[in-house]
Amino acid sequence: MKFDPIDRDLAESAVQLFERRYEQIRSVSPVFELNLFEEPSHAETLLDWASNGASVVAHEDGVVHGYIAGRFIKFYGATKALYAPEWAHCVSDEDDKLLTKMYTWLGREGHLSGTTVQIISMFVDDARSRDAMANLEFGVHQIEGVFGSRAAMNGPAMPADVVVRAATPDDLPAIVDLDRKLWEHLNRPPVSLGLDLTAYPHADLDAENAKYKVPRQGAYISVAERGGELVGFMSCRNGAQESRALRNMSVPHVNGAFIREDMRGAGIAQALLSDVLRWAKGESAPNVTVDFESTNPEAAGFWLSQDLRPLVSAFTRRISL
Ligand SMILES: CC(C)(COP(=O)(O)OP(=O)(O)OC[C@H]1O[C@@H](n2cnc3c(N)ncnc32)[C@H](O)[C@@H]1OP(=O)(O)O)[C@@H](O)C(=O)NCCC(=O)NCCS
Repeated sequence: MKFDPIDRDLAESAVQLFERRYEQIRSVSPVFELNLFEEPSHAETLLDWASNGASVVAHEDGVVHGYIAGRFIKFYGATKALYAPEWAHCVSDEDDKLLTKMYTWLGREGHLSGTTVQIISMFVDDARSRDAMANLEFGVHQIEGVFGSRAAMNGPAMPADVVVRAATPDDLPAIVDLDRKLWEHLNRPPVSLGLDLTAYPHADLDAENAKYKVPRQGAYISVAERGGELVGFMSCRNGAQESRALRNMSVPHVNGAFIREDMRGAGIAQALLSDVLRWAKGESAPNVTVDFESTNPEAAGFWLSQDLRPLVSAFTRRISL
């Protein structure tokens, strides 16, 4: 077996390997997008990622048995990281150790130098890749999934003095305040994302692609109000999925949720999610998706209690050099 960086010929064969695997995955979970790479093609995208990152293809006599391609990114705006999404790696069934061998080759040949964070996303059903990465000291960092039909159906009744409604433009400053608290939450242990709080990015409501805007086509923000004050919000936007295999402009993705600390555990997030799902239904959206850090116990506890079906999971390794 030979190991080489990806080139045009190898990219075409690597794509065929992925497409066969993806067909199996879609036969179990049709929620994944059928046409992942219409423009540009999957092979072009792989080549582009590889030229801005690192890649390896395992091949023998013209047959590709596996590949990894990753782009170098700034992890949460700071650390140099390698990011290989779920469509950017695949191994054939023959060799259980191939993913490990390819990752080892990338490191030993110096292709990962300078990265102290390495992220490989994978389909949650891909038990073999998960075990291989776990043995390489990767741990689950982020989970993305789709809500099942029982979401937000049962749970505690909301306090009588809390009203859930659609956000208005006047709510936006209060939503940004709550979102800033969400950032602080994600910076604290055990999530500890290392976000730059001094450069909080969502405050500028006039920015072209501001995270929060009301009204906005294909987006909805639900808020919880008590005594004239916002105590929580949940925002969603079509096509904001992290995973390319799940990204769909007809599918809303929850891209922000926060309940004031003293109001938690009273069913407010559940009522907001019901409101978001009601809006999505009105838009004929086939699903609603969300992603969250697995180190965030409140988020993990909440979303998984809402009949969320995890579909893609990002595995991360942090190396101190
Ligand atoms: C996650 C969050 C939005 C949940 O809000 P909430 O209003 O407290 O949630 P609810 O009261 O509607 O909880 C409904 C169910 O979720 C689950 N749940 C909620 N908080 C939980 C926690 N801390 N641990 C485990 N399960 C939890 C429970 O099953 C709960 O039902 P139960 O009380 O009958 O057991 C809130 O904790 C929060 O704002 N956290 C900080 C910000 C954040 O992490 N946002 C999510 C980013 S992806």
